[in-house]
Amino acid sequence: MKEVSGANWWRQAAVYQIYPRSFSDSNGDGLGDIKGITAKVPYLNALGIDAVWLSPFYPSALADGGYDVDDYRDVDPRLGSLADFDEMTATLHAAGIKLIVDIVPNHSSNRHEWFKEALASPKGSAARDRYIFRDGKGLNGEFPPSDWESIFGGPAWERITEPDGTPGQWYMHLFAKEQPDFNWDNPEVRADFLKTLRFWADRGVDGFRIDVAHALTKDLSEPLPAKADLLAENETLDGTHPFWDRDEVHEIYAAWRDLFNEYNPPRTAVAEAWVHADRRGRYASPEGLGQAFNFDLLQAAFDAEQFREIITRNLAESEITGASSTWVFSNHDVVRHATRYGLPKGPGRNGPAQAWLMSGGKEPALNRELGIRRARAASLLMLALPGSAYLYQGEELGLHEVVEIPDTDRQDPAFFRNPGVDIGRDGCRVPLPWTTEGIAFGFGDAAAHLPQPEWFSAYAVAAQQDNPESTLSLYREALRLRSSLQTEEQLKWLNHPGDSVLHFIRPNGWQSVTNFGSEPVELPAGTVLVSSSPLSKGKLPADTTAWII
Ligand code: NOJ
Repeated sequence: MKEVSGANWWRQAAVYQIYPRSFSDSNGDGLGDIKGITAKVPYLNALGIDAVWLSPFYPSALADGGYDVDDYRDVDPRLGSLADFDEMTATLHAAGIKLIVDIVPNHSSNRHEWFKEALASPKGSAARDRYIFRDGKGLNGEFPPSDWESIFGGPAWERITEPDGTPGQWYMHLFAKEQPDFNWDNPEVRADFLKTLRFWADRGVDGFRIDVAHALTKDLSEPLPAKADLLAENETLDGTHPFWDRDEVHEIYAAWRDLFNEYNPPRTAVAEAWVHADRRGRYASPEGLGQAFNFDLLQAAFDAEQFREIITRNLAESEITGASSTWVFSNHDVVRHATRYGLPKGPGRNGPAQAWLMSGGKEPALNRELGIRRARAASLLMLALPGSAYLYQGEELGLHEVVEIPDTDRQDPAFFRNPGVDIGRDGCRVPLPWTTEGIAFGFGDAAAHLPQPEWFSAYAVAAQQDNPESTLSLYREALRLRSSLQTEEQLKWLNHPGDSVLHFIRPNGWQSVTNFGSEPVELPAGTVLVSSSPLSKGKLPADTTAWII
């Protein structure tokens, strides 16, 4: 049986990601907040999830949607207070829902006390050593220390003005310039994050999601390699890259694990590490964070062979490492899977969806119905897999990516730093529609901080909750069934005569069958528990998953 209350609750959990500023706005300022989440605990309870993962809610200027943290041990006053946070935690726990919070250890914001102190302190000072400062190249240090680019585009170095007003050193930022990277060789940095983890664990937080967990330790010895010499692909990372996936990063997580294990039950963690499957186990080991995101399905097309290969490989990997697998189709960084699956197949995590976004939703043509149909089939398949399923707010409504956001309303630094090339991630972060009408479709009493399109009305919770055919009803039913059917045991693939059909069974007789093809296929014998689309004359139609027992 799935363990829900003991030390291993997280191994088979269904975890629901909340992007706090876009979930529910309790005070009508257009920004979602903590009290808004507390008020929606009955909704989360009815949905049937085991845990909530909260994206950053810390004080932040929102240069990167809250992943630019000013203070790791407080709540953004626009979102509430620590007392509100405690009330939310207690309300979630009373409903039997665990809480995971996001920890952002690679970088702080440029408004963090330490960074302000670093700017006000001289070159070579202890305050500067908490970050990564270097002299520039050129006669007057006017060129960056290397030609590296940040993930959001543009240089990975920013020049500062020294306290005496002269142009000075440069600091490194893998992301936006408002996100200076910490120097993890500095013991003060290490000690401070232990303090932060303890702060939240003591408040009753059950687990942590670790942002860019594979970037913390860096080898910046001179000469810094040129951009062209850096291995670009996650696939080829082997521990020698100067900042991605270095082996010594695991010393940090071993110390964190010691801290987690002081608690009862031990605190849990999941690494956001974009590394190849065969290096993921290092993050997910019991001596480390315990679990790591597996983004392989998220990057795949809706395709039986790709799904089978990814599932087989990851389950084999988890057999070796002893870590439970994780599965995810959508999050706050990628184009929603209902939209990805309604576009022609293509490579990469967003594939043709980037082109679709850049064209303002014109090209290639989006087949909305097909996208939702496939997303429902894929999600039902995922919920039948051994391991943890990570769901992103709004996918239970079948929400599509929002393309209708005027440039003037966009917030993502990926958009501002890549004009004409990258539209950014705002389209999956638009506040949820709760009601079919009203200024913000029930999100709050004021216009939402990102504009919601008119078509959100049809996707609102209120429009779906009493309709047994709705995507919300499907997720509720699937999660309800999963909570009694899910086990630690692995799956066995079964042969199905149809082309492009994936069929597997768990030791308790729970079967999942997905038709990725274009024609209806025979259903295996047994009782149908749930299907992602109505059956067609007793057959499993195209782009549909059914559970059978
Ligand atoms: C990964 C987060 O998921 C993303 O939203 C953020 O921009 C980067 N890390 C930087 O913190």
